[in-house]
Amino acid sequence: TDYGTPQSTSEKNVTINVDGFDVTVPEGTSVMRASMEAGIQVPKLCATDMVDAFGSCRLCLVEIEGRRGTPASCTTLVEEGMKVRTQTDRLKGLRRGVMELYISDHPLDCLTCAANGDCELQDMAGAVGLRDVRYEADGQNHFKMRDGGGEVNACWKPKDESNPYFTYDPAKCIVCSRCVRACEEVQGTFALTITGRGFDSRVTAGMSESFLDSECVSCGACVQACPTGTLQEKSVIDIGQPERSVVTTCAYCGVGCSFKAE
Ligand code: FES
Repeated sequence: TDYGTPQSTSEKNVTINVDGFDVTVPEGTSVMRASMEAGIQVPKLCATDMVDAFGSCRLCLVEIEGRRGTPASCTTLVEEGMKVRTQTDRLKGLRRGVMELYISDHPLDCLTCAANGDCELQDMAGAVGLRDVRYEADGQNHFKMRDGGGEVNACWKPKDESNPYFTYDPAKCIVCSRCVRACEEVQGTFALTITGRGFDSRVTAGMSESFLDSECVSCGACVQACPTGTLQEKSVIDIGQPERSVVTTCAYCGVGCSFKAE
């Protein structure tokens, strides 16, 4: 299970109530993690327990009694006696609206995508009950171009297939920054960054032209962190998803890099 945010090491405990269920967790735990520990799944895209919370996707919004607005549960820490609601009609509507915007800027090629069946964007679209998308943006255009139609525009960027182990397809990127944070926090390398604004925003390999020219050490942390088919192992693209995979820790040095064995 991915609890969305790293575990707190505090020895002091805090009890909160989530959707009517009391849950006791260490101080410093996120509301998202506490909810997950209470067995309540909060939709999420940018949060993972691999890296610190960032609060960029706005899918994990919750309501907290006595507070205005709808804070992100991944970046909000528990406080004694907090009463949290995760499934109100208002929250469900907000999440569907957010997902609609993501999908409107994403290729609709799930059936031929190597990440089909292992894609958190696909899972979350189902989890929030998204059925129709009213908008059409650049992601759809990338898809049409590959199909022989559509128009080239300033936002279009080709796939980066320079790395021998994985590919990067900016058309599928939702700019959650999980790969950037995994590169920094898991590997301790600063090979990736986010550039641009709006439809033009994308992950780039620093100032380099490609991943191969960058400071990337091919550790795979970014590929493991990616919630969509943006960063894909070449072996998965060639032969499909493995029947089973195990995430383990490399035993060769003290850094503690994790990798996926298939
Ligand atoms: Fe909390 Fe993305 S999962 S903002």
